[in-house]
Amino acid sequence: NEARFLDELVDLLRVPSISALSAHQADVERCAAHLAAHLRAIGLPRVEVWPTARHPTVYAEWIGAPGRPTVLVYGHYDVQPVDPLGEWTSPPFEPTVRGGQLFARGAVDDKGQLFIHVKAVEAHLRTRGALPVNAKLLIEGEEEIGSPNLDSLIRQRQDDLAADVAVISDTSMFAPGLPSLTYGLRGLMYAQVELVGARSDLHSGSFGGALANPILALAGLLASLHGGGSRVAVPGFYGDVRPLSDAERRAFAALPFDEEAFRRDLGVDALAGEEGYSVLERLWARPTLDANGIWGGFQGEGAKTVLPARAGAKISARLVPDQDPERIGDLVEAHLRAHLPPGVRMTYTRLHGGKPCLTPLNHPAVQAAARGLEAGFGRPPVFIREGGTIPVVATLDEVLGLPTVLMGIGLPDGHAHAPDERLDLGNFYGGIRSATALLDELAAALEAR
Ligand code: BES
Ligand code: MN
Ligand code: MN
Repeated sequence: NEARFLDELVDLLRVPSISALSAHQADVERCAAHLAAHLRAIGLPRVEVWPTARHPTVYAEWIGAPGRPTVLVYGHYDVQPVDPLGEWTSPPFEPTVRGGQLFARGAVDDKGQLFIHVKAVEAHLRTRGALPVNAKLLIEGEEEIGSPNLDSLIRQRQDDLAADVAVISDTSMFAPGLPSLTYGLRGLMYAQVELVGARSDLHSGSFGGALANPILALAGLLASLHGGGSRVAVPGFYGDVRPLSDAERRAFAALPFDEEAFRRDLGVDALAGEEGYSVLERLWARPTLDANGIWGGFQGEGAKTVLPARAGAKISARLVPDQDPERIGDLVEAHLRAHLPPGVRMTYTRLHGGKPCLTPLNHPAVQAAARGLEAGFGRPPVFIREGGTIPVVATLDEVLGLPTVLMGIGLPDGHAHAPDERLDLGNFYGGIRSATALLDELAAALEAR
């Protein structure tokens, strides 16, 4: 079935379901409908498209095994914008195979990964006429915009979504050929800062020197976030950070990772970050506070002698257990207000966020997933954490009481969110075999409890 599975994924990838851009609203809805039709076609008896205030969530279930465990698979069918378009080798929504990789927006994040579970369900239904467990699929269309409507949807649909364990494939393997289970993700706090000075832009000759300059004020504020050191200078920022255990540091250090090769690949002459921690520790288990964008003043050709009236920046923090996005957002705002020079006003807007997560490694579902990956890839997985954020993981825990198994089949150079996003086809097929074996393994592991 490999060629057919690939063709079907290509059909899904052709739909430009960019959740952030309102011009694509109809495409996002078309993608949800396409996915729902496919889930019906593979034989799932209950398939629904649940509307939300913005983009719909697709829900499907097969619950023909009363008394057996229930698995909730989560994925997201929305994708990131595609700019800069000129840097794509082939157009983002015309999926193309080159060198064993499928290139398209969404190939790895997350259409290609969610699809391995769809094909696993199909494999069981077609070969045995039944699944070894009850399965529920929750596939949202707003992950890339921070899942603004998902928490309330999960709360409303608590009864429908009751399960024993959640499974998500939306992460990466540590290296090619090295299947991986991710047991921790960082959280996120994202905010926008805008400074306003005079009532309009002014001639910098006539007014410069007598008024605060919002760009310089912003530069000072951003610099104050780190205060020149390798750590974040916001008071209280590290207050809730769970320290790394020695055992975990040893486990990270035992992974095949070469900091020097990592540096060279990125094309920089030095790495940066918090002193006293390895690169993997910095990426997976230490928080950051970054600037993501900055604007203000004159950007055009040549010189314009202007004193700008406003300036702004997007900032975000990657968070680790037990930091809370709300609290960190407040601490950052308080720090900025305390450092705000006279003569400028600040507006601070929280955009979105998500909580960090850690899955207990000793849960039987994690061990079942390890056996599933071994069945699909021929070797047992390594256990890793990652630096990205999947907001639903915390919600599944808090609202439904579910542990989440993160069984990703992306690769570190999958170019997620970037031009030339790609899915390794060996990983796609290995992922389908793993997801298929996983359902049997979960049936055995959770039944025995
Ligand atoms: N699939 C990623 C999450 C991810 C990234 C996991 C890297 C592991 C490694 C997800 O689609 C994503 O991009 N999440 C956003 C957060 C969201 C609130 C916009 C992120 O991490 O920036
Ligand atoms: Mn994703
Ligand atoms: Mn993403």
